[in-house]
Amino acid sequence: MKSKSLPFTKEQLEKIIEKYPTPFHIYDEKGIVEYAQYFKHSFDWNNGFKEYYAIKALPNPYVMKVLRNQGFGIDCSSLAELVLAEKAGMRGEEIMFTSNDTPAEEYKKAAELGAIINLDDITHIDYLDKHVGIPELVCFRYNPGALKGGNVIIGNPEDSKYGFTREQLFEGYKKLKEMGVKRFGIHTMVASNELDADYFVETADIIFDTIVDLNKELGIRFEFANLGGGIGIPYKKEHKPVNMQRVSDGIKELYEEYIVGNGLDPLKIFFESGRAITGPYGYLVSTVLHLKETYKKYVGLDSSMANLMRPAIYKAYHHITVMGKEDQSARYLYDVTGSLCENNDKFAINRLLPEIEVGDILVIHDTGAHGHSMGFNYNGKTRSAELLLRENGEVVQIRRKETIDDYFATLDFDGLKNFEV
Ligand SMILES: Cc1ncc(COP(=O)(O)O)c(C=O)c1O
Repeated sequence: MKSKSLPFTKEQLEKIIEKYPTPFHIYDEKGIVEYAQYFKHSFDWNNGFKEYYAIKALPNPYVMKVLRNQGFGIDCSSLAELVLAEKAGMRGEEIMFTSNDTPAEEYKKAAELGAIINLDDITHIDYLDKHVGIPELVCFRYNPGALKGGNVIIGNPEDSKYGFTREQLFEGYKKLKEMGVKRFGIHTMVASNELDADYFVETADIIFDTIVDLNKELGIRFEFANLGGGIGIPYKKEHKPVNMQRVSDGIKELYEEYIVGNGLDPLKIFFESGRAITGPYGYLVSTVLHLKETYKKYVGLDSSMANLMRPAIYKAYHHITVMGKEDQSARYLYDVTGSLCENNDKFAINRLLPEIEVGDILVIHDTGAHGHSMGFNYNGKTRSAELLLRENGEVVQIRRKETIDDYFATLDFDGLKNFEV
């Protein structure tokens, strides 16, 4: 397989590495901005269309600033993500808070920021009322259960812990109405890394149909339908990116039928995509430390699954480019590994690559979403830096690498001296 494209040459990357040693994730601002524009313009027909970037995919305020400049909101699911939104200067309805099993302090923070609060369960109406009070705009997360098939990453909706059943939606919105709520939204999130455009159109079908029924039975009007995230990306070269124009055209047709046809226009369409927006524009850059040959050939990198967990936990494919060897034939079979004491700490298993030497630079593609953010500290491995390749070619460090002192910051070594055993 010939390499997927890169936003830098080997020489440019070597210059970057002189200043910022590997491993690091680097994000391509130009790629992110161009895709963001394509995404939003696909829905130009819908007045009030908004993408709330799922910040869990790449929780970095610099990237959020770039996306906010494109008119994107932020989708948060925890206290830390709400604080990050606040630090990025975001307020009010440009923040959507979709959480589950939520502590009161997180609802309080969301309310303080004026975020749109999306409840995951019917019992949270009373919980929110008790701890924060019911805001004037409330959204529920709908789990359509058997109406929708799932996939390997997200599982089947019926087995998923998230959201209200259809019956609970009717009961819940009725209760909100009785409590004096005037503004309503509805949300669902039933896909993960889905490449079939029709899947998202089907989701809109289920949601629009539900909105019509809720309107008929309860007389409430919805301001928005948030169709979630889950838009897949072409991790493999043979994959095709989701055609967002096709998704939009399909949704528009249903909008005319259900929403306009029933006199329910206007309804704002929201998404909260993470992976599609930044995933393809991130790269984990690593150097080969060791080559090992036992029953198989191993390439040992200076990064590990602490930097990128997806291959280990989902058996996910991430394409690898060996810098400077793009045109060499990929005829050597390798496992590309990290240094954790876990045999699944492998970026690739049985991958055909050009012949690799110690010191080669390997670029692991598509790490711009659920990459650095899923990192962890097992074995005391510290997480890498994050860099942003600006549109003008400048490189900005948008997060420094963790140090060993960061790792030990939660331990009290002085207390240990006085700890008798
Ligand atoms: C509630 C919610 N919204 C949005 C997303 C973003 O999903 P993706 O990055 O696949 O678009 C997730 C992912 O876990 C999620 O749980």
